[in-house]
Amino acid sequence: VKIDGLKVACIGAGYVGGPTMAVIAMKCPTVTVTVLDISEERIAAWNDEDLDNLPVYEPGLAAVVAETRGRNLFFSTDVEGAVAAADIVFVSVNTPTKLHGVGKGRAADVKNLEACARTIARVSSSNKIIVEKSTVPIKTAETIRRVLEANKRPGCEFSVLSNPEFLAEGTAVDDLFEPSRVLIGGEDKPAGRTAVAQLAAVYNNWVARERIITTNLWSSELSKLVANAFLAQRISSINSISALCERTGADVSEVARAVGSDHRIGPNFLKASLGFGGSCFQKDILNLVYLAERFGLPEVAAYWEQVIAMNEWQKRRFAEGMVSSMFNSVSGKRIALLGFAFKKDTADVRETAAAYVSKFLLEERAHLRVYDPKVRLPAMLSELDYTCGVTPENCPDLATRFVSCASALEACDGADALAVMTEWDEFASIDFEAAFAAMRKPAFVFDGRNVLDHAKLRAIGFQVYVIGKPT
Ligand code: NAD
Ligand code: UGA
Repeated sequence: VKIDGLKVACIGAGYVGGPTMAVIAMKCPTVTVTVLDISEERIAAWNDEDLDNLPVYEPGLAAVVAETRGRNLFFSTDVEGAVAAADIVFVSVNTPTKLHGVGKGRAADVKNLEACARTIARVSSSNKIIVEKSTVPIKTAETIRRVLEANKRPGCEFSVLSNPEFLAEGTAVDDLFEPSRVLIGGEDKPAGRTAVAQLAAVYNNWVARERIITTNLWSSELSKLVANAFLAQRISSINSISALCERTGADVSEVARAVGSDHRIGPNFLKASLGFGGSCFQKDILNLVYLAERFGLPEVAAYWEQVIAMNEWQKRRFAEGMVSSMFNSVSGKRIALLGFAFKKDTADVRETAAAYVSKFLLEERAHLRVYDPKVRLPAMLSELDYTCGVTPENCPDLATRFVSCASALEACDGADALAVMTEWDEFASIDFEAAFAAMRKPAFVFDGRNVLDHAKLRAIGFQVYVIGKPT
C-alpha cells in the first residue's frame, strides 16, 4: 500500500492531535499533515515562531515541530478546507465527562465527535477514511458512521476506523517514536480492510508490522478504556497497600519491588503516590463504569468504581495526614507545595492531585506557596476552580493564600512544611539545608511522591512523612 502524496487532516490540536501529527509528519515526509482546531489561540500558539510558546510542553516536541512545520506539517483553523482536501481525517477532539443530564458525572460526552462527523459529511466530495483517535465509549464508531451516512453527498464513501492513542504525557514523543503497539480497529468488510491497510501503511513507515494490532471496531474502542482502567487499577492497588505499610512498618517501595519482580506482575505502575491525576484515568474509568451499568452489569461497574474511590481516599488521606501531623491545625501556617502538574515533564494540571490537596488545605485556612517548574499561576487557579470549585468568591483571601513562587527555596521561606506534589527531577537537588534554615520549626516534609532522600532530610532536622513508609 502506497502512502506517497497522501493528505492527512486532524481535527483537534490538543495534547494528542499536536504531538501525534507532528511525529507522523516527521516519520512520513511524503505525507502532508494539517492539524486543525476551532481555537484560534491554540493554532496561533502552534504556529508561534518561538518554540517555547507551543501550547503543549513535551520533551523533544519542539525539535520535531522545528523540523516539520512548514515542510509537511501545517496548523490551521480552516477545518472545512483541509478536511475537504484530505484522504484521511483523524478526529482527536476532547471527550470530557458529561456535566449534565443522563450519565452526568460518568458518561463521556461525544458531542464534539458528532459535530466533526457532520462537518466532514458536509464538506466532503471525495472518499475518505475517518479515524477515531479520541477515547470514546464503545460503539461511537457506529454513531459517526450513521451521522456520515445520513449527511453525505451522493457518491461519497467513508470508512470509519478506531485508532486509540496510548501515549502518556511527559513522554509523548518517545511513546510516539516507539509505541508499545498501534491499535487499529475496522469493519470486517472489503472497504474496511482496505482502510485498515492504508492506515497501517502510514504507521508502518516507522513501526514494525508485528507491533500493529488490527481488531474489529468494538474491541479497539473498548481496549483503550480497559488499558487505562488496568493502569489506574495498579496505582490504586499499590496506594491501598501504602496505607497498610504506614501502619505496620512495611515499606511500600520494598513491597512494590518484591511483588513487581514476578514477571507475571511486572515492575511498572506500582509507584505509590498521593493519588493519580491527569485528564484521562478518572474520565475513562467513569466511562467504563457507566457503560457496564448501561449494559446491565452492576457488579462490573461496582468493581471498577473502587479504583476511583481508592484514589479519592488516597488524596484525602494525604491531605488529612498533613494536618494531623502539624498538630491538627494549619490555620495561618505557610505550606510550600512543590509541583502542581499531575506528573513530571508536563505543564498539564488537569485533575492533578495537587489541586485537591490545595483545596483541602485552603479550607483549613493554610497559606499555600506553590512552585512548579512549568506551571504558571493562571493555570493553577483555573484548575482549582474547574475541578475543585475553589474561586475568589467562595475562598476568602485566595489571592494572598495561594501564591505562586519562582523557586522551591522562595516557596519554603518562612514555611512550616514543604510537600512534594509532583516528582520533578530537580526537587532532588534543592538545597535542603538552606530550606530548613529558612523554615519555622519543627519543619515538616511530606513526600507525596517518594522522591527525596529521607535519611538526609532527617539528619538535617526535618520531621519527614512519606507515602507508604513507617514514620
Ligand atoms: P485537548 O483538550 O488537549 O484537545 C482537544 C482539542 O479539540 C481542543 O483544542 C479543542 O478546541 C478541539 N476541538 C473540540 N471540538 C472541536 C471541533 N468540533 N472542531 C475543531 N476542534 C475541536 O484534548 P487531548 O488531551 O488532546 O485529548 C483528546 C482525546 O484524546 C480525548 O478523547 C482523550 O481522552 C484522548 N487521549 C488523551 C491523551 C492525553 O495524554 N492527553 C492520551 C490518549 C488519549
Ligand atoms: C495515561 C496512560 O499511561 C496512557 O497510556 C494513556 O494514553 C493516557 O493516560 C490517556 O489515555 O490519556 P498519562 O495520564 O498522561 O497517561 O500519564 P501516566 O504516566 O499514566 O500517569 C497518570 C497519573 O498516575 C499521574 O498522576 C502519575 O503521577 C500517576 N502514577 C503513575 C502514579 O501515581 N504511580 C505510578 O506508578 C504511575
